[in-house]
Amino acid sequence: MNGRPMPCRQQEIGTLFLFEKLAPDQIARLCRDGRVETFEPGPVYQEGDPATCFYVLLEGALVLSRRIGNLDVEVNRSSSRGVYAGAFQAYLGDRVEQVYNNSLRVVEPSRFFVLPAETFAAIMREWFPMAVHLLEGLFFGTKNTQEAVGQRERLLALGSLSAGLTHELNNPAAAAVRATSALRERVAGMRHKLGAIATGPYRRDSLEALIEVQERTAERVAKAAGNLSPLEASDREDALADWLEDQGIADGWQMAPTFVQAGLDTDWLDRVAAAVDEGALEGAVRWLSYTVETELLMNEIEDSTARISALVTAAKQYSQLDRAPYQVADVNELLDSTLLMLSGKIGPHITVVKEYDRTLPKIPAYPGELNQVWTNLIDNAVSAMRSMDTQGTLTVRTARDDGHLLVEFGDTGPGVPAEIRDRIFDPFFTTKPVGEGTGLGLDISWRIVVNKHHGDLRVRSVPGDTRFQVRLPLTSTDSNAPQEPS
Ligand SMILES: Nc1ncnc2c1ncn2[C@@H]1O[C@H](COP(=O)(O)OP(=O)(O)OP(=O)(O)O)[C@@H](O)[C@H]1O
Ligand SMILES: [Mg+2]
Repeated sequence: MNGRPMPCRQQEIGTLFLFEKLAPDQIARLCRDGRVETFEPGPVYQEGDPATCFYVLLEGALVLSRRIGNLDVEVNRSSSRGVYAGAFQAYLGDRVEQVYNNSLRVVEPSRFFVLPAETFAAIMREWFPMAVHLLEGLFFGTKNTQEAVGQRERLLALGSLSAGLTHELNNPAAAAVRATSALRERVAGMRHKLGAIATGPYRRDSLEALIEVQERTAERVAKAAGNLSPLEASDREDALADWLEDQGIADGWQMAPTFVQAGLDTDWLDRVAAAVDEGALEGAVRWLSYTVETELLMNEIEDSTARISALVTAAKQYSQLDRAPYQVADVNELLDSTLLMLSGKIGPHITVVKEYDRTLPKIPAYPGELNQVWTNLIDNAVSAMRSMDTQGTLTVRTARDDGHLLVEFGDTGPGVPAEIRDRIFDPFFTTKPVGEGTGLGLDISWRIVVNKHHGDLRVRSVPGDTRFQVRLPLTSTDSNAPQEPS
């Protein structure tokens, strides 16, 4: 143990604000049952240890920290005389686990008044019974609220995550399934064709020429960027269909759209015609149309599966499941993943405009919780705009703002009426019908932004232009803050 006993002077103890208005015999009891100790810089007690003592700072400087994940996060640093720490819930007895809920260390030689937990509890109950009743009510009341809030918080996150994801994954997954079964059909068709070719009258060198054309065609399909306007595409389709008809290829118009989609034109058909024997042209063109179709289908499968894997990456980024809770984060990236997760909820009647400052530095933050804030603010903006018939716009803006990073969510909804503006951040305040809103979204967001990130959350609102503004410190004052890897 680091502490060194010192004399306890009643006169000094009596001047602590905690012990104001106590009678001289009460101060005498404090000094008799308690003690004064000095500590050299270093730990005084550790989070999780049995809470045996209540500490009041007489002089020096202390730091309180809590373990979050595997990080020690500083929650308070003070050199104010009279600040206290330790077993301050001793009066709740065995209804709560009596362990220290944070760690105390001193950063310079410091002197404390130290009271054993049992004495502290006994004194509280004897001297201030009414205060103990009130504190009990407050403690258990807050605890219940926090449990409800915490559950709701997790549910909100899970709910929006799974709703957004299912919706978003559905399209590419269905497209990949469709393309795969079409591909299977085309490949079977090619196998049959190959059988016909093998038994056909083709010369070896014309087959070689065909295979050569096929290779070049596949290459062109891979590079084709479908950037023709609908008008250009239909012109080109007509030209291809005419060309095929001129060559006596029946149903040429059915193959034309596929060729156009692959970026092929009549010049390409001319080259095919030059490469193969005259009688074999139709067979060759049909064979190449299979090639083109399978290439296009494989492109489609590639796009859909790439989209699926991008969504899964975004879901991971959004949920921060396998990440450290406190780390250096790119806010624009967090916003992108949240918007992607919520895109199903945002719906087609709302236009999303991103005005990001791409030069923003990364900031130390709890990214999973910030995503929760964005989710709540976007959810509110979306439901405000849903109440109107017209198309709405959600503007997500990031900027640097006087030593802070600003994230602003603007909506074109009806706005927050002035008479409720100072109540919307209260827990359980909602204007939504029973069963729809719990009124916790802004309360949760406030706690995350203000309490956890030492930032600021404000609203400015007139009908048609409502902005919720989150300001986060660019750098942390926490000595445990994660640093950008250099
Ligand atoms: N963008 C907005 N435009 C208009 N009113 C808003 C907006 N955001 C919040 N409000 C008002 O603030 C109230 C409280 O918002 P809060 O997010 O805390 O709860 P909620 O959205 O009602 O419920 P939930 O717990 O589901 O989020 C809302 O009911 C609404 O009246
Ligand atoms: Mg809400």
